[in-house]
Amino acid sequence: MIVYASRTGNVRYIASKLKAESIGIVEELTVNQPYLLMTYTDGLGDIPREVAHFLEHNANDCKGVVVSGNRNFGHKVFGGAGDKIQSTYHIPLVRKLDLRGYKADYDAIQKFYETRVLE
Ligand SMILES: Cc1cc2nc3c(=O)[nH]c(=O)nc-3n(C[C@H](O)[C@H](O)[C@H](O)COP(=O)(O)O)c2cc1C
Repeated sequence: MIVYASRTGNVRYIASKLKAESIGIVEELTVNQPYLLMTYTDGLGDIPREVAHFLEHNANDCKGVVVSGNRNFGHKVFGGAGDKIQSTYHIPLVRKLDLRGYKADYDAIQKFYETRVLE
């Protein structure tokens, strides 16, 4: 299972490139199975509010996080949501993508998904 948060469609697009079942975060979503989290970055390197809220109840089943950001924000905060999720919840950061990323990113994410989330 892939669980994602997307405000302007980039993360949703990335999720659509993967061979995996995916679901967008909605309020009070509970996922009782291993999943890969995919999110955008907000503020200045921040975890989007709905993602932080979701993780309060679902961090245990999260096997990894993929983050999308925009390099134009500068290297200190580029994809910062992924760094913060990794350090706060001890969830491995699988990949940082600039906006929608590239095919090489999708291939790497697919491989992680099949070996570390499905297994
Ligand atoms: C208000 C705002 C703040 C943002 N802050 C950051 C940031 O600090 N670091 C970063 O890498 N990207 C930042 N971004 C860029 C988004 O994370 C990036 O465009 C992402 O691909 C959006 O994904 P989405 O289309 O799925 O919502 C910001 C975008 C907006 C609109």
